[in-house]
Amino acid sequence: MRDLQKRKPLLLAIAALVALAPLLFAACNDGGAGVGNTPPAGEPNVSFTLRTTSDGGFAFVGVGGDIDGQRNPMLQVEAGDIVEVVLENGDGVEHDLSFPDFGVTSPRVAQRDAKTTLKFEAGEEGGFKYFCTVPGHRQAGMEGDIVVGEGGAASEPTTGADIVREPTDLPAPIGDRGPQTVQIELEAVEVEGQLAEGTTYTYWTFGGKVPGPFLRVRDGDTVELTLANAPDSLNTHSIDLHAVNGPGGGAAVTSVTPGEEKTFTFKALNPGLYVYHCATPSVPHHISSGMYGLILVEPEGGLPPVDHEFYVAQGELYTLGDFGDQGLQEFDHEKLLDEAPEYFVVNGAVGSLTDQYPLEVDVGDSVRIYYGVGGPNFTSSFHVIGEIFDRVYNQASLTTPPMTDVQTTTVAPGGATAVEFTVDVPGTYILVDHALARLERGLAGYLIAEGPDNPDAFHEGHAD
Ligand code: CU
Ligand code: CU
Repeated sequence: MRDLQKRKPLLLAIAALVALAPLLFAACNDGGAGVGNTPPAGEPNVSFTLRTTSDGGFAFVGVGGDIDGQRNPMLQVEAGDIVEVVLENGDGVEHDLSFPDFGVTSPRVAQRDAKTTLKFEAGEEGGFKYFCTVPGHRQAGMEGDIVVGEGGAASEPTTGADIVREPTDLPAPIGDRGPQTVQIELEAVEVEGQLAEGTTYTYWTFGGKVPGPFLRVRDGDTVELTLANAPDSLNTHSIDLHAVNGPGGGAAVTSVTPGEEKTFTFKALNPGLYVYHCATPSVPHHISSGMYGLILVEPEGGLPPVDHEFYVAQGELYTLGDFGDQGLQEFDHEKLLDEAPEYFVVNGAVGSLTDQYPLEVDVGDSVRIYYGVGGPNFTSSFHVIGEIFDRVYNQASLTTPPMTDVQTTTVAPGGATAVEFTVDVPGTYILVDHALARLERGLAGYLIAEGPDNPDAFHEGHAD
């Protein structure tokens, strides 16, 4: 199971989705024609053959020579080479092959064993990409490298701090104690964090991770909350907890400049699962940058015990650069106002809950996911591919009987839900916002269930 984590995060999520639902992407095809420069004069002196596959996600597989059998092989050529690449369709799904840095894109090939040939001249040394341009296919795995000569000066990918909150990072249930006074300390921390592979962003956080710490109290508790702002912060921060009855949910009395701290006290009067967030202007900028989390106010006696509780929160990021651009990304206020995010994420970053920290359970385990949306702008259609929620605490109300047998549940920005289910069949289940374009902008998590097959619930082929 662990080798999953060494592979590319988003690609895997999408590849898995593709494996589950190839039609989703096939439906996007519009049969575009190939484009390209005039082919170079002269006979090719280097030749490669790539054959498409849908096995284990989309990919190009090398045929013959050094690249035989390799998935998305690295193509090594020399400056000045006349390169010929034969694209063979191996899966009967429509694909093409593009080397945009060399100005060539093949026509699409749709029939199994159909072929097309690309020819171009490799100019200067450098490292470049080839991929399929059919919408979704590159993201689903159809991408590889072509290196000319030494590849030029390979630049180190940009790295930042790991800001991902592990989904298992939440306190144990409070259970059956009486109300008491509880101290909570939070610190606003600004940090350059890893947003995606080769991409960083200046996160503003509670405690250096996204989402902020999972806070857990019980109905009737008196909560003394201290918010500190790290001395090296550049901004003022504050906190609005939706669990608070009082001005600004606490924001009115917690505005802290760098190095400052403030305390306020509130009584938890309503059980429920609540969002908290920074409420310093521009509020959506602070929220988007990572300043949100959940506070659970347990009802008397607590919630029914389960085998696993997980903490997941969704948000969007608005960067000046496009999705996937490398390097440190600046915040883009125009895109924020247009509600046009570049990234949708759970727990702060692309790959957070796929390659980094997938949710791990055994078949038969009961699972509860606390799912919040920091946003700031987008409502989530929370769904787990291949699972049905046995119970949903709709709108995170814990005093209303949960709804039963739900496929997808709406979670508003500044809102939350708790869902419960038992995993019946082993496999990898994907947590998504069923507004699935967001999958291609980073939003996915895995729930991996290990255990014996359950052919009565699920098996390939006919009923016995
Ligand atoms: Cu803030
Ligand atoms: Cu709010």
